[in-house]
Amino acid sequence: MNSLKLLASNLLKKKNINEIMQEAEKSELKKTLTIFDLIVIGIGAVVGTGIFTIVGVAAVGGPESVGAGPALSISMVVAAIACIFSALCYSEFASMIPVAGSAYTYTYVTMGEFMAWIVGWILMLEYAIGNITVASAWTGYFMEFLKGFSHILPAWVVNPPIWLVNDFRTASTICAKQGLDFSTVVPHFMGVPICINVPAMIIVFVVTMLLIRGIQESAKIASIMVGLNLFIITSFILVGAFYVKPENWVPFAPNGFEGVFMGAFIIFFAYIGFDAVSTTAEETKNPQRDLPIGIMGTLLICTIMYVCVALVLTGMVPLDMIDVQAPIANAMRVVGQNKLAGFISVGALCGLTCVLLVYQLGTTRILYAMSRDKFLPSVLQKIHPKYKTPHVVTWLSGLIVILGALFMDLNISAELCNFGTFASFIIVCVAILILRKTDPEKPRPFKVPFVPLFPILGILCCGGLMVYSMGSLKTSAVLFPVWVLCGVIIYMAYGYKKQRTK
Ligand code: ALA
Repeated sequence: MNSLKLLASNLLKKKNINEIMQEAEKSELKKTLTIFDLIVIGIGAVVGTGIFTIVGVAAVGGPESVGAGPALSISMVVAAIACIFSALCYSEFASMIPVAGSAYTYTYVTMGEFMAWIVGWILMLEYAIGNITVASAWTGYFMEFLKGFSHILPAWVVNPPIWLVNDFRTASTICAKQGLDFSTVVPHFMGVPICINVPAMIIVFVVTMLLIRGIQESAKIASIMVGLNLFIITSFILVGAFYVKPENWVPFAPNGFEGVFMGAFIIFFAYIGFDAVSTTAEETKNPQRDLPIGIMGTLLICTIMYVCVALVLTGMVPLDMIDVQAPIANAMRVVGQNKLAGFISVGALCGLTCVLLVYQLGTTRILYAMSRDKFLPSVLQKIHPKYKTPHVVTWLSGLIVILGALFMDLNISAELCNFGTFASFIIVCVAILILRKTDPEKPRPFKVPFVPLFPILGILCCGGLMVYSMGSLKTSAVLFPVWVLCGVIIYMAYGYKKQRTK
């Protein structure tokens, strides 16, 4: 009975906005970031696997989804529209509560600790599970990069056994596609097929080591990577445009609306990350003015670039020739631009490593914050005696991705990441509606226009794409509710017992 009382009293306990702001004012972080820096950070977090790899599956289709075909450019716009309403809501929160913590903090102040825990738990899908996608995509571009050296490298390095560079599901799909016998191509141990994506595991291990050592120069590295990314994508658009054959755009939408909406759901992954701008609130010079511009600016630039990439890619190569592992580099190879293809692979590898680093860092920071709020064991806050970094939580995050890369393929992890991010966007839209009712007088330097219409449209767009895709996606559509249920069980069994707020 006492447990039930405690559960009921803690479930809705909120953090106080003013207390959070006072805590943040004590923060020793330097306020140096300008609008330009924010857009650089935004693009650094957004441009990666989505546009370099997933664009292939979104156009062609995957094991459980139909492709958009050339209509991928429309899917890009649909996904951007679903993001815009949530981006406006993020902007209002970020300008009103300019503290680190993003969706997790916004939920804590509006809906209380249970929903905050659930958002933190769901954000793990966006960051940790999303990183499994990035790591798998990294392997694709690494193998594409090695192909450029096929004249000097031994054949087993350039074309390694399928089971050493793929997870189980991808290996079986490749075997089926190439008419190979899975049971002879893939070794078995006590009847269990052994597939290990070695390059993905190695890169995650290296990134984890880097994070433990501490990366002081991260901002500088990020801006160089962003410059390189933009240069590569612009080169692809400009050079590729010369190879576009309009007949490749016919039929424009081979799978009709289903293809366009499935494409929008899948390619949503490419937009994830603009919310990362809001996590820099405590380090921004003029957060009230600059955060909304940074968030919306990132979204606008990415949308324009993505629509151009979709048009050029589907115009350059016939749909059945679009590669799903390294589509952008491969398209250049198909039209005989081998040098540019090699250059794109190197750039994509750098870009993907950067995203891996940012998301791995994000995972550790969220887990760290949740452990500080006593949602997770305090051992996660342990700081390395020499490097002064949270090494236990960093190892844990690395391990989650390494193990995940053994069992999950790129599609499933991307879909799960999308489900998680859609859910957190919906919660942020709901939180705006609640705060407008409960605290209408609080100064809001940036306000979402047309409330309640815009947040409601955000909820409908994100929810609509989620529900629509659940009709086709069998695996991730089951795993997502299971994940949320696990979060609920952990809170009910352990989380609610801690005293967090006064
Ligand atoms: N938007 C990020 C990417 O595409 C997650 O890699």
